[in-house]
Amino acid sequence: MNELLPKLSAIPDGIHSAADYLPLARERLQPEIWRYLEDGSGNNTSLQANLRAFDPIHLMPRPLADVRGGHTHITLFGQALAHPIILAPLAYQRLYHSHGESASAMAASAQEGQFCVSSLASQTLEDIISAAGQPLWFQLYWQEDRQRTLKLLQRAVAAGYRAIVFTVDAPVKQATIRLPAGVRSVNLDDPAPLPAFSSRQSQVFDGWMTQAPRWEDLAWLREQTSLPLLVKGILHPEDAEKTVNLGCDGLIVSNHGGRVLDGAPASLDCLPQIASVVSGRGKVLFDSGIRSGRDVYKALALGADAVMTGRPYIWGLAAAGALGVAHIIRLLRDELEMTMALTGVASISEKQICPDRSQNPA
Ligand code: FNR
Ligand code: LAC
Repeated sequence: MNELLPKLSAIPDGIHSAADYLPLARERLQPEIWRYLEDGSGNNTSLQANLRAFDPIHLMPRPLADVRGGHTHITLFGQALAHPIILAPLAYQRLYHSHGESASAMAASAQEGQFCVSSLASQTLEDIISAAGQPLWFQLYWQEDRQRTLKLLQRAVAAGYRAIVFTVDAPVKQATIRLPAGVRSVNLDDPAPLPAFSSRQSQVFDGWMTQAPRWEDLAWLREQTSLPLLVKGILHPEDAEKTVNLGCDGLIVSNHGGRVLDGAPASLDCLPQIASVVSGRGKVLFDSGIRSGRDVYKALALGADAVMTGRPYIWGLAAAGALGVAHIIRLLRDELEMTMALTGVASISEKQICPDRSQNPA
C-alpha cells in the first residue's frame, strides 16, 4: 500500500473550481483506483473528445441585462430542484471514501439536488436513501433476464426510489478493476452463469450478448413501472426516437464518460440533434465531459433539460467525503449562475449560446 494522505475534514483555501479537487483526490487514492476512475476505454479517444467538444461552443456576453432575482431552479418529474446538476450513477463509491454512496446522497440532498444510485452501489439501497432523507433515482443495469431485472427494480421501488434510469450502453464492460476486500455490489445477486458456448462460437455474441437487453426488453420494462423511466446511453437520433415512442419519460445523451466504445462521438456533439428529435416529448439529460458550470450552461443551451456530473463529484468524495461532494455541486452551480448573469439570462429556460454556434456546434 502506498502512503495516502488522510481525507480532508475542512475545505482548504484556494479551491475555486471543481478542477481544483482533482489533485486533492488523486493524492488520496491508490493509483489503480485513480486509473479505474479516470480512464476511458482503449486510447481514451472518446474521453478526450468529450472534454474538447465544449471548447468551440461560445458564450455571448450580454451586459446590462436585468437579471435580478435570477435562479437555477428547475422542476423534474414533479420534483423542485435548486439546480439542474444531478449526480450521475457511479459504481462502488466505497472505493473512494468509507462513507461511499451515503456521502453522495447526503451532499445531493443538502444542495437540494438529486443523486442517481448505481446498480453497482457498494452500500444497500435502503441505507443510501435513508442517508439522503429524500427519494432518489435508481440506475438499473439489466440483470441477465427479465425475472432477475424485475426483482432488482422492485427492491428499488420498495426502498423509495422515484425514477429509474436504465443504462443500455454497456452490455460489454471495458473498464474493470479488481475490487479490494469489503467493496462489492451489495444489492445484486450473484450473476447467472453464461450459457455454454462451444469453441467455435463467440464469447461476445453467444455469451455476453445473450444476456444483454434488447428493444423488446425496454418495451417490457416500460410496462413494469409507472415511475419515470429514462434510458441512459443514447447517442443516435433514431434510438432517441424509438425510446420516446416506447413511452419512456426521457433519455440521457451519454457515452458513459468515454468508458465503453472508444471512438464513440463526443456526447455533446450528439446533443442538439437528439434534443430536436425528442422535441419536448420527454426530458433530455446530458452527461460526459462536464467539468465546470460553463460546461453545464453549454449543455443546457444545446437542448438539455438537466445534466449529470460524473468524475468531478467523485473527486470531491475522494478528497473530503460528503463535504467535498456538496462543495463540488455548489462550485458548479456558482459557475453556472455567473455564466447566466454574464450572458444576461435569469432562468434556465432562457439560456442561449452564440447563435452561429447553435446551428452548427461541431
Ligand atoms: C461510471 N458510469 C456509470 N454509469 C452507469 O450507468 N452505471 C454505473 O455503475 C457507472 N459506473 C461508473 C463508474 C465510473 C468510475 C465512471 C467514471 C463512470 C458512467 C457515469 O454515470 C457517467 O455517464 C459518466 O461518468 C459521465 O462522464 P463524466 O462526467 O465522468 O465525464
Ligand atoms: C463503469 C461501469 C461500472 O463505467 O459502468 O465502470
